[in-house]
Amino acid sequence: MRRKKLLKKYLVVMLAVLQISSVTAGCAANSSKENTATTVAGQEIETQTESQTESETQKETETTTEKETETATQQETTESPYQYEQGLYEFYQDDFMIGVALPSAIIKNEGKKLRATILNNFNSITCENEMKPDALLDKATCQANLEECYTNPAVKFDSCMPAINFALDNNLKIRLHTLVWHSQTPDWFFTEDYTDNGELVSRDVMLARMENYIKSVLEYFDTNYPELVYAVDVCNEAFDTGDGDADGVRMKKNKWYDTVGADYYYQAFVFARKYAPSYMKLFYNDYGCMYKVDSILSHLEKAKEEGLIDGIGMQSHLDINDDIKYKFLGAVKKFCEAGYELQITELDIGMDEYTDANIKRQGRKYKVLFSGLKELREEGYNITSVTIWGINDNNTWRAGKYPLLFDGKNNPKPAYGGAMLDENIPAID
Ligand code: GLA
Repeated sequence: MRRKKLLKKYLVVMLAVLQISSVTAGCAANSSKENTATTVAGQEIETQTESQTESETQKETETTTEKETETATQQETTESPYQYEQGLYEFYQDDFMIGVALPSAIIKNEGKKLRATILNNFNSITCENEMKPDALLDKATCQANLEECYTNPAVKFDSCMPAINFALDNNLKIRLHTLVWHSQTPDWFFTEDYTDNGELVSRDVMLARMENYIKSVLEYFDTNYPELVYAVDVCNEAFDTGDGDADGVRMKKNKWYDTVGADYYYQAFVFARKYAPSYMKLFYNDYGCMYKVDSILSHLEKAKEEGLIDGIGMQSHLDINDDIKYKFLGAVKKFCEAGYELQITELDIGMDEYTDANIKRQGRKYKVLFSGLKELREEGYNITSVTIWGINDNNTWRAGKYPLLFDGKNNPKPAYGGAMLDENIPAID
């Protein structure tokens, strides 16, 4: 029965992928096919794992690739002991949604095992890159129609169509990631003539661009795919970065800060609330949340009081040596107790070396985390979604850290057993 169901799902998905269409919105229709559908392999991503401190840290590089090759250290396991009657999302159906971040290469992949792994375990997806500003903004159309687009930037959605179709065909929901972010947002978006090195526009012009960008994106999803997007990362990574201003707002290499100023994150919530339908919950998303709960709460106080924000997204790029039981889950509690909906948005738990001991430890950490979240949920904490940042250890931005639930051949690891609260895995650090 199950096999038949999977085969059917698989066929439907393949049909959908073949029907990829391109859609445009914003100030003018676009005929260009720019290269925004690709991942950003090799691009420096300024972000930190939770275990890294606030100081300047070594940046990790986005490494998601199209390949599904094996790594030297991963084994050719065929039978994993971590196989269960239910998948993850069914197991947690009374608790929260279970999501996965997928790059377009994975969505287009035809591997049956990979598809089954995704569809058996997840009921929510996040585009790893394809809904970020550098994917949605349409430079060619903006430049060709400068006057019309001056305060109303053109956007296009061809890069995320495979994800949208995949979600529709498989009854998955989408987390929209992310509207306002200092990274993966092109420099040209902030300039007078939409060129890379042009003069920066004024605060007023940039606020108008921000408003219209947010409006175009949210209205596009609401009009064409009502109820598909259930959460939106309105602003990503704005606070306490180690290179912030006196108040801890991200200042360096942040064109939003350079143009709009220190309240850019607040303005993003003003506009998002103005255009988001009520089923799209509005989130602030950040890394290292367990180290900066108080700072995040105080920065968001005004937006919260004014009803502009619904939830906090804790990215949760963790390490097997992190204190999940007290520190991490403590932060979850604190955000919820401050009245926020809480989502884990980019979970991965890395290790430095792929040893037996570390793999087991990773399994225990996942169990501590998932059992803790489930208990909190049962106590009434408003945790609504947990997203794993990638499907397998060969397709992760943290290459060499083996941070995910499945190995490079999509075999479930002890990490998966931990997430499934396998009774043979102790929930101890
Ligand atoms: C941050 C971003 C994600 C992604 C990761 C690296 O956490 O929020 O979108 O870019 O960095 O993959």
